[in-house]
Amino acid sequence: MANLSVNVGGLKMKNPVMIASSPLTAKIELLKEAEDNGAAAVSIKHAMMQQKFKARPRWYFNRNIGIVVSGDPRLEPEYACELVAKAKRETGLTIVCNMSGAPGRLETWGQLASMLEQAGADGIELNFNCPNLLSAEIKTAVQGANLGADPEACSIVVAEVKKAVKIPIIAKLNTEGGMTMKVAKACQESGADIMNIHASFRAAPGINIYDGGKFLFPGTSKGNFGGHTGVWSRMITNRFIADIARALPGHALIGGSGLEKWDQIIECIMFGAQSVQICTSVLHKGFSIIPPIVKGISDFMDRQGYETLESIRGLSLNYITEPSQMEYSDVAAVIDTGVCTGCKLCTRMPTCIAIDYNEKVKKCEVTREKCLGCGLCAGVCPNNAISMKIA
Ligand SMILES: Cc1cc2nc3c(=O)[nH]c(=O)nc-3n(C[C@H](O)[C@H](O)[C@H](O)COP(=O)(O)O)c2cc1C
Repeated sequence: MANLSVNVGGLKMKNPVMIASSPLTAKIELLKEAEDNGAAAVSIKHAMMQQKFKARPRWYFNRNIGIVVSGDPRLEPEYACELVAKAKRETGLTIVCNMSGAPGRLETWGQLASMLEQAGADGIELNFNCPNLLSAEIKTAVQGANLGADPEACSIVVAEVKKAVKIPIIAKLNTEGGMTMKVAKACQESGADIMNIHASFRAAPGINIYDGGKFLFPGTSKGNFGGHTGVWSRMITNRFIADIARALPGHALIGGSGLEKWDQIIECIMFGAQSVQICTSVLHKGFSIIPPIVKGISDFMDRQGYETLESIRGLSLNYITEPSQMEYSDVAAVIDTGVCTGCKLCTRMPTCIAIDYNEKVKKCEVTREKCLGCGLCAGVCPNNAISMKIA
């Protein structure tokens, strides 16, 4: 049987599945549920040295897109330390702590990290990512995604925490602000052991167009834009995982957003991640999605004859090239007439002149010479009757 264990920059995990920092990781009962369902590690909910305001959970959720989180309560340092100590006593999980210091007081980053280390944390995850902490201030006076868009400020914070703790330090990066790669490099140079990347952008929630455009956050007369998580973001994260894996070869890397199935996790690993963090799909569907994920990864590895996750890490990086270097073979759509139901969806694509409906046989047909090989039809077909073949 394949070995699913990973060592991510010194964090040892029995498999690559982590539960991301969120309300799912703010209570001991939930941590136990995560473990019972097979998660290897958790990132404890964001602990803050000083909270400017106390947020309540206010989320806009659309199951086809994901969540926009306007508010979510953070942990006080003492509570976070107690939770870590309890989790270390009562579970076998690898525990990392998502945290930030007080605005403008650099030393508090190290102080809180040290408190969490003494409580038993296996790793410190620096929160350079929360999009709903954005403000106009600069440098270490700011938190979350604003801080995370400033390479110099992040590097100063990493160095400060590095002085304070011996356990691995994770820089949890964000994709807001266009500085992700510079921040990743700065964090690595100042000693961050692990990069963690999620596609997170500040986004608007849905609004009630029949009630003057009010925000659809429950129980708030006014709302703020919030961090957008969930399925919409998966491919963007994969791009960033690949970018970081190529820019920092061999560096420990966690990644993933919008994950809910085992094969999506294999994709993250093939783009260069060693482990993944999952949140929204568990909030939505429960911890019971985790066992099929772990089993799915294991079965895949056995079926394909891979022994370790390290052996598939970064395989897809071999296929990334510059736009000018792309190689094109002639391909054309082929319709499996045994599977085609004649629903005609593939005949409606305005840019395709190659597919027509054949009334006589009640199936769709491709005229090979007209097919450009774009691949759109293969995704349009609800029955997977279309594949692209070398012409
Ligand atoms: C309700 C909620 C609360 C979250 N709280 C935190 C947090 O405290 N710290 C943090 O770094 N990320 C937080 N996140 C982001 C998640 O850790 C994760 O990075 C993100 O949701 C992307 O993964 P997903 O698409 O699987 O949800 C939160 C996400 C949600 C939905």
